[in-house]
Amino acid sequence: MDTLQQFHRSGYCGGWRIGDTGTTISVCGWVQRQRDLGGLIFIDLRDRTGLLQLAFDDSTDRTVFEAAAALRSEYVIAATGVLREREAKTDKIPTGDVELYVTELRLLAKSETPPFEIVENSQVNDMLRLKYRYLDLRRPDMQRIIAIRHKVTKIARDYFDECGFYEIETPMLQKSTPEGARDYLVPSRIHPGKFYALPQSPQQYKQLLMLSGFDRYMQIARCFRDEDLRADRQPEFTQIDLEMSFITEDDIIAINEGFLKRLFKETLNLDIETPFLRMPYAQAMNRFGSDKPDLRFGLELVDISDLVEHCGFQVFTDPIKSGGSVRLICIPGGGDALPRKKIDSLVDYVKTYRAKGLAWLKLTAEGATSSFSKFMTEEELSAITSRAGAKTGDLVLIVADSSNDIVFAALGALRCEVARRLELIPKDVYRFLWVTEFPMFEFSEEENRFVAKHHPFTAPMDDDVALLETDKAACRAKAYDVVLNGQEIGGGSIRISTPEIQQAMFRALGFTDEDAQERFGHLITAFQYGAPPHGGLAYGLDRLVMNVAGTENIRDVIAFPKVQNASEPMTSCPDVVDSKQLKELSIAITSTEPEQLQAT
Ligand code: AMO
Ligand code: AMP
Repeated sequence: MDTLQQFHRSGYCGGWRIGDTGTTISVCGWVQRQRDLGGLIFIDLRDRTGLLQLAFDDSTDRTVFEAAAALRSEYVIAATGVLREREAKTDKIPTGDVELYVTELRLLAKSETPPFEIVENSQVNDMLRLKYRYLDLRRPDMQRIIAIRHKVTKIARDYFDECGFYEIETPMLQKSTPEGARDYLVPSRIHPGKFYALPQSPQQYKQLLMLSGFDRYMQIARCFRDEDLRADRQPEFTQIDLEMSFITEDDIIAINEGFLKRLFKETLNLDIETPFLRMPYAQAMNRFGSDKPDLRFGLELVDISDLVEHCGFQVFTDPIKSGGSVRLICIPGGGDALPRKKIDSLVDYVKTYRAKGLAWLKLTAEGATSSFSKFMTEEELSAITSRAGAKTGDLVLIVADSSNDIVFAALGALRCEVARRLELIPKDVYRFLWVTEFPMFEFSEEENRFVAKHHPFTAPMDDDVALLETDKAACRAKAYDVVLNGQEIGGGSIRISTPEIQQAMFRALGFTDEDAQERFGHLITAFQYGAPPHGGLAYGLDRLVMNVAGTENIRDVIAFPKVQNASEPMTSCPDVVDSKQLKELSIAITSTEPEQLQAT
């Protein structure tokens, strides 16, 4: 049988309508399935646009008919014929109202039986899917997501182009700089013992482009961070990266709300309301225990430290004495929905966030029962229930800890977990939010020093500049994140543009002037040549696509993703290399023990 030579495809499989009957077309694709009914053969042909039924009958040329009889699933074929109305229009086969009555058929490639069926939502083990990712990507749901990803990228390019942004590429091989996540390093052959780092983001280059006068920059930028994978985190991911000069935080927020509005309109036909709510970081933590609160449901945190400060329950009083707090969430109707067994599993859940325990209180018609009743007076108990706003049937869950970070982390996560378990999260609702006024620093237990919460180029708030030297914990930054349904989809800041403040920042991070010079000398020097006020933001493109496509795992939106241990099952990478290559790079391997993975 001949091949594609001289064959001209004139159409895709999907989308033909009754009005198209009589048209002669040629299509190419994969055989979804073949049904041989004796004198009749039907083939569902699949390409990226959908399915088209091909029909063969008594009047079909015998060689064509026999060729059709020999076709199997996933064979690749080309077919020419005339579109005609289907006789049996059943909703069960989504191939539309028309079929192709085939006059010419060519087999372009045979296929082995695939390791799993190429169908929508197939329940296949993830490792198998990823080992045969090229087959997995043939499935209609994956094809749909990849098309959405293309569209999101295109809308970003169009929108920012229309707003006057230039798309500029920045280097993949960069200097490794401290702060941030762990780098992926690339050894240099020409400079033995020296390394490039793959970009964690184009942060420094985009700021330098502002100094060069390109006052509106954007890039679809690949980023690399050697950190543990999560459902929304990959070691290799993509940002829509932006930087602007001569702007304020409000300008950046406005231009980005415009982008998100357009994105959701053009992808989901959704009119999202702007401006978005803005919430200072401190408020987000106090109310939701999270800097990326999910606003689709309530269950807000309530501080009861002042009510229990002097009670007889040491589990509550001790943490307060050492500077911590006692906070709760109240779950309407939780008394019935969450019996003891289920509460016990929530106790285990909060322990994964380093909480030492979880106290509970149920308000029943007979009064309050709780895990700590014997340590409290009636008045104290009723003060708690009334502060919680608890009604009969409600459940109150309480965490006490000497570290407020732990109280927030545990209750913030518990709030979301309870909402998931009790199905309190409405579907098809998109709640956007800007979280602002982030702390400039966070204390790293591991390094025993303050590190930049965002990055070292983020400007302090005007009122807080002096705090860089005097009170790092209280110093707030001109940093903002954009949050959608509890996920950080983007983050950015106004940057430091004066050398003096930049140097104060490096000092605050514990760098000596020499360290700073060695690591960031190029920036310090550059900023002496006229730095415009500037700022920017980067979206996680993959996360935007997840939200538009409605998927829960970032792997679904990346054509060839990595798995939990940062490997890629299809090509088996990372892999060993030739000793000759290592020698050229002056590298000796000292251990081949894989690192133990932490459960997340
Ligand atoms: P940040 O580190 O907050 O900021 O990253 C910006 C956005 O990128 C996404 N993101 C990720 N997505 C998938 N996998 C990951 N491992 C991952 N890490 C981050 C998130 C996040 O909001 N240069 C600054 C931006 C700026 O200041 O302009 C930056 O990279 O959605
Ligand atoms: P115990 O006296 O250890 O039996 O604890 C009484 C109750 O307090 C139990 O329900 C514990 O789960 C709870 N509890 C223990 N530690 C904490 C904590 N850090 N925060 C909130 N509740 C706690």
